[in-house]
Amino acid sequence: MKVIVVKNYEEASQKACEIMLDIVKSNPQANLGLATGSTPVRMYELMREDHKKNGTSYKDIKTFNLDEYFGLDQSHPQSYHYFMCHNLFNELDINMENVHVPKGQGNIDEECESYNKLLQENPIDIQLLGIGSNGHIGFNEPGTPFDSVTHKVDLKQSTIEDNARLFFDGKIEDVPTQAVSMGIANIMAAKKVLLIACGEGKAKAVYGMAEAPKTIDLPASALQDHPDCILIADEAAASLL
Ligand code: GLP
Repeated sequence: MKVIVVKNYEEASQKACEIMLDIVKSNPQANLGLATGSTPVRMYELMREDHKKNGTSYKDIKTFNLDEYFGLDQSHPQSYHYFMCHNLFNELDINMENVHVPKGQGNIDEECESYNKLLQENPIDIQLLGIGSNGHIGFNEPGTPFDSVTHKVDLKQSTIEDNARLFFDGKIEDVPTQAVSMGIANIMAAKKVLLIACGEGKAKAVYGMAEAPKTIDLPASALQDHPDCILIADEAAASLL
């Protein structure tokens, strides 16, 4: 794992954006694995700015998101589909037919199966990740087997609490308790993985991911075996390394 420590969130976002743009510019048909959460928001903003200013094109780029809440329609303002449109896609020249976010409604077993098939047919060139304070990646909570593929997840109470701040008025009862997520094996299959971690709330998870023995109790530690994984951490998140 290559560890890049930067001063703060802004520098982390700039470095991550640089790496993403390298991929997009060198392969205009790249398959991007994308993530939600507050961490990539600034990086997405920088990608939008670059598109506007430099015309980097996404017209033949395909995207595959990690996860989606269960029970929220795509048009729900708190769905990850909506998040991606508003933070990135709406201001790019991307073809929305090339955008893939798991569906959190309908027949979930069928949805998981077809998402796995889609990922098999479209190998991901770069998978962007954030990290949960308990070490989760996507919505793969502690205890998820490393050979898991897209599946339905029961969210841990700590994840529901962490994510409540992103819901309308931070009301915990509004946060869905289940989600659909790519599995750890899907993430490990990406050619390159880029994980951004910022803030001291992520320090323990970052230590567990990068330096503690690999364990399913800290899902991100699976990345120790990835042949091309880059961790960008700000000083606070890297403070226990
Ligand atoms: C959610 C997402 C993860 C994300 C995590 C951390 O649980 N499913 O993909 O990494 O939140 O979010 P944040 O970046 O807001 O700390």
